[in-house]
Amino acid sequence: MDRNKILEALSSVASASGRANLVANGHIQNVQVFGDEVIVDVISDVAALHSKKKLEVEILKAIHSLVNEKAKIKINTTVVAPAEPENQRIRGEAIAGVGHIIAIASGKGGVGKSTVTANLAIALTSMGFKVGIVDADIYGPSMPMMFDAVTEKPGSIEVEGVRKMDPVEAYGVKLMSIGFFAGTEQAVVWRGPMATKALTQMVRDTHWGTLDFLLLDLPPGTGDIHLSIVQAVPVTGAVVVSTPQAVALADARKGVGMFRMEAIAVPVLGIVENMAYFSPVELPENKYFIFGKGGARHLSNEVNVPFLGEIPLVQSIREAGDVGRPAALQTSGLVPQAFMDVAKNVITSLAARVENLPPTEAVRITTMAGCSKA
Ligand SMILES: Nc1ncnc2c1ncn2[C@@H]1O[C@H](COP(=O)(O)OP(=O)(O)O)[C@@H](O)[C@H]1O
Ligand SMILES: [Mg+2]
Repeated sequence: MDRNKILEALSSVASASGRANLVANGHIQNVQVFGDEVIVDVISDVAALHSKKKLEVEILKAIHSLVNEKAKIKINTTVVAPAEPENQRIRGEAIAGVGHIIAIASGKGGVGKSTVTANLAIALTSMGFKVGIVDADIYGPSMPMMFDAVTEKPGSIEVEGVRKMDPVEAYGVKLMSIGFFAGTEQAVVWRGPMATKALTQMVRDTHWGTLDFLLLDLPPGTGDIHLSIVQAVPVTGAVVVSTPQAVALADARKGVGMFRMEAIAVPVLGIVENMAYFSPVELPENKYFIFGKGGARHLSNEVNVPFLGEIPLVQSIREAGDVGRPAALQTSGLVPQAFMDVAKNVITSLAARVENLPPTEAVRITTMAGCSKA
């Protein structure tokens, strides 16, 4: 890896405002290469946080795809643009300090929604984002186990005279789950309004500090709870998880349909295919498409949402979930790479959605946040 190759790769990346490329614009201030490590100092000429993030993802992608897919990249971004009120408004802050709420949904249970949520959180954290999770799956809260936190309890903290719940933190991710509270067994018989109230409280009455992303692990299905929780908190976008099986895909399609209902109107950021293929440990190059091949990618095309990537079916993902150390924490290999790719695609899709929302939509989101807060 040398500096010139990196600069060549960076000249394929547009500046944050889209005017010319980073190198031509003089937005690359410094590039340092130490073995497989690269430090890039770059200027973002747009103030909005999502533009800065998008720029950083584009830089990561360019270096990984054009120079070295294993490069360890550190990006220092300096914003040299006045804050534009327009961007600030679209960015929104429905919940103090929280940039974007992303709902993770699946039509069917057991497709790996919670596994994807946990590992997506880890991948985003390793990219430098601040991430929280609300385990909204009252029928089967799994975050306490997946993060080795079953014995933890959220604390209580007073913030500016208001009592808030202090989330549990594991591997740098802030967590709230119904599973942390006593009497969890009763949660399964909760009816809509009670469940919605509890979930809304977990989102709103928690002291999150500053977060880039709050991931909402929704219960499986497309029922009342989904409608009300998604209406009660301002969700920026939804990620739908499916396996390649026809039954799961049919339910994933319903999931996409739910977010598109007029009463909800949450942009779908894309579909993740979990358990896409089986790879045995001893033959990692071999892929067996046990549940069928390419189904989720097809569905994405058909319903016109981005395909966010595929996660293989491997024993270590299940084991990692059971011992409470998400597989994306592994330092190398197919699995963390797969989750990293999904994370990058989620951000790219999110940035595009935030940018492309027509003004009415942005206002609607802002207004909704304002209303439900009041
Ligand atoms: N890609 C995968 N490879 C291996 N096991 C997986 C994978 N995804 C999920 N699992 C396992 O499948 C089970 C169900 O996953 P989970 O994430 O709890 O699903 P959901 O939240 O959709 O009900 C868990 O035991 C989990 O460890
Ligand atoms: Mg789950």
